[in-house]
Amino acid sequence: MLDDGSANPTVGLQRCAAGHRERRSTVQLVPHAGSGETWAKIILFGEHSVVYGQPAIALPLRSLRMRARVSASAGLSMLRSLDYEGPLRESGARFACVRRAVEVALDKVGHPEAQLSVETISDFPPERGMGSSAASAGAVIRAVLGAFGVAASAEELFDLTQRAERVAHGKPSGLDAVATSARGPVQFQAGRMEIVPMNLDAHLVVADSGIRGSTRVAVSGVRTRFENDPGGVGEILEELGELARLAVRDVAEGEITALGVAMNRAQQLLAHLGVSDHHLDLLNAAAIRAGALGAKLTGGGLGGCVISLAPTVDAAVHIRSALRAAGAVRTWVHPLHPIRVEA
Ligand code: PMV
Repeated sequence: MLDDGSANPTVGLQRCAAGHRERRSTVQLVPHAGSGETWAKIILFGEHSVVYGQPAIALPLRSLRMRARVSASAGLSMLRSLDYEGPLRESGARFACVRRAVEVALDKVGHPEAQLSVETISDFPPERGMGSSAASAGAVIRAVLGAFGVAASAEELFDLTQRAERVAHGKPSGLDAVATSARGPVQFQAGRMEIVPMNLDAHLVVADSGIRGSTRVAVSGVRTRFENDPGGVGEILEELGELARLAVRDVAEGEITALGVAMNRAQQLLAHLGVSDHHLDLLNAAAIRAGALGAKLTGGGLGGCVISLAPTVDAAVHIRSALRAAGAVRTWVHPLHPIRVEA
């Protein structure tokens, strides 16, 4: 992936200093350090409609990693994440999902009282629809389990991540929990996921509007619209689901022109749901003018990122420049390699 590198440099790994040294007799310290890794994701089709049981397709961006490290803390549990460094319990609302991830993982390993130093290091920004909360929860859970030498199945890891994600999003569909640890594009519907084959000769350009999106606010806005107009909003959600269903075939058969058209239609429908905004509309328009086959918001919306589909790497570089000129604070160009799925 080509990264324009204009954001803050990655925070280096550094163990949190423990606040004090006395050992609590009830606490069993972690026997060794543990680490966990997940990654960013984008939603190609189906954000919001997936919450209502429609299918969605998401693409893991494995080069944008989320790493977590945990080790024993001699005092209080400590957290180092983004610009925060201090006691875990004082880390505030932004880190509620990480705190819950530590809690559910410690329950799972049977040491709910253990005190840990927890660090997360991310290659991608939070609150931009790239799955940061699910990715951080997933990485922390894997790190805690690893530190205690406890194995968990993919289903257990999904359940634990969902328990942490509920703090951030209320009732997450589970798409982020799956996509931020998947090894290929996934189709997700009503709690079930499948890896889908991909045969696209194209590039995806991801552009960050620089505006923080709140998935919780966007999801509850759609819920209110749905309650006020179940028929009209229901039709929009169904059409979004149908676009995702058709896209599974287009992704497998390399139909990039059809995919682009579907992305534009999905963007229109998402705007009708009230989850786009002026900045995202401007970025999408700039990408299309610069030659994108299609462009749409990705994730919760109301800020966050847009994605656009470029037929060649040269087109992608051109689109990226246009997106930057239109105000994108950061962009990534992601080649879409063919992925075969064994029967
Ligand atoms: O904004 P993100 O990356 O958390 O994606 C949210 C996707 C939604 O469909 C809007 C919500 C969900 O739970 O699937």
